[in-house]
Amino acid sequence: MNIKKGLLISCLILAAIIVKAQTRLYHEPYRLQAHFSPQAKWINDPNGLVYYKGTYHLFFQHYPKTTVWGPMHWGHAVSKDMIHWKQMPIALYPDKLGYIFSGSVVVDEKNTSGFGTKNKPAMVAIFTHHDPKGEKAGAINYQNESLAYSLDEGKTWAKYKSNPVLRNPGIKDFRDPKVFWYGPGKKWIMSLATKDRITFYSSANLKSWTKESEFGQALGAHGGVWECPDLIPLKVDGKEYWVLLVSINPGGTNGGSATQYFVGQFNGSKFTPVNNKTKWIDFGPDNYAGVTWSNTGNRKIFLGWMGNWLYANEVPTGKWRNAMTIPRELSLKFVDNDIYLASNPIKELKNIAAKTFKINAEQVANNNNLFAVIKQNLTQYKLKFKTDKLNSYAVVLANESGEKLILGFDKKNYRYYINRTKAGRDDFSKLFTGVAYAPRIDINPQSDLELIVDASSIELFADGGLSNLTSVFFPKKPYTQLSITANGMEIKNLEVTSLKSIW
Ligand code: FRU
Repeated sequence: MNIKKGLLISCLILAAIIVKAQTRLYHEPYRLQAHFSPQAKWINDPNGLVYYKGTYHLFFQHYPKTTVWGPMHWGHAVSKDMIHWKQMPIALYPDKLGYIFSGSVVVDEKNTSGFGTKNKPAMVAIFTHHDPKGEKAGAINYQNESLAYSLDEGKTWAKYKSNPVLRNPGIKDFRDPKVFWYGPGKKWIMSLATKDRITFYSSANLKSWTKESEFGQALGAHGGVWECPDLIPLKVDGKEYWVLLVSINPGGTNGGSATQYFVGQFNGSKFTPVNNKTKWIDFGPDNYAGVTWSNTGNRKIFLGWMGNWLYANEVPTGKWRNAMTIPRELSLKFVDNDIYLASNPIKELKNIAAKTFKINAEQVANNNNLFAVIKQNLTQYKLKFKTDKLNSYAVVLANESGEKLILGFDKKNYRYYINRTKAGRDDFSKLFTGVAYAPRIDINPQSDLELIVDASSIELFADGGLSNLTSVFFPKKPYTQLSITANGMEIKNLEVTSLKSIW
């Protein structure tokens, strides 16, 4: 063989190795194909969600060294549609003030902070500095709020030299600042999780903060510490309300981590709920620490971490661990003289819709594998149907190993459920919960269901997003069978849409 030929063959082998390595990344077992997950290693909460100059930014709690929680960094990813993501270099590294815990990013259009100019406003990150040394030494004030800013649209970040900007007043859990510009008062408002309540602060320049009020010590669920608040305005029937999201861990509705919300009024200083009911944005075990994108106008889009602190450090995903939910558009709905938050998959999901298969009521009733009917073996898809008269039903996803994920509606107990007790691996943690329930909030006989199924996650949106459940699962083999039993209830307009991989 001459040298030229040898070189050519070596190049071809090298190219083949590179291509193989690339196809493996993002296509490992359990790797989600329609959701953001990190290229490698650990993630938890979404942070700094902000839309700026045509790009959606997602920062996230990240430990780039191992697949378990550790010294927190802010990872970074960008997207044009909140569906396709490109992971960027790490945005914020731990420093001498501590780990970089959760927080938010705002675009300082009026240059109130002086970090940018009026023509070139800064993106400002407001986050918690968590000092592990202080924590270890038994101090109380080891969480403080700090700033970082970017003058190149989020590519690189500088920490503010006078950090922290909001010092801990002696509250052990003092974290997760979410900041927005309150137009009528011409000031920034920060919602901060302060142990068993949310404390609101205001500022003219993001650097000096004044306490305004506290909310929630005697309201809502209190089975654990309050975390990751977000206060957003939403209109319904022409009237504006404010919604306060509050994550809680433990003490979630189905065990461990979950996110509750309150609907009320905000006057620039104080939040007053319309009533004392505890409501949940998602009843499933795997939607936590969710907040909304800032700078998206009236549109409010929520993203949650698809995990639960009970077992997130143990899920068997290999070289990456944990992911985000599908982004969800929020709206308010009146039901029976009360007001609720509905959340539904964002319309941009259509960007990865491949093919829609329609299945009629008769086919649903007479087939025990609907994938055989449409001649597909789908592992990531959207499923929708409607019914005029809701009765108990069950949707079953199954595989050749006899594993099953069952979800549906139980009329007797008037609740939706996802049962993952036989859905696959659960040997990695004793705390991996089995069945999750969501009470039905809607009172109409008509009902609709939308599911987003991915390699190891399912998101259930019932009654226009009023009763939701998000759950992860780990089958030995992909589910290639789908069936629905409906006790005579007519399933109308059943559609299964295959979803393309975002990677
Ligand atoms: C929520 C949370 C936050 C904290 C972060 C640490 O999941 O506990 O309160 O800032 O995670 O990673």
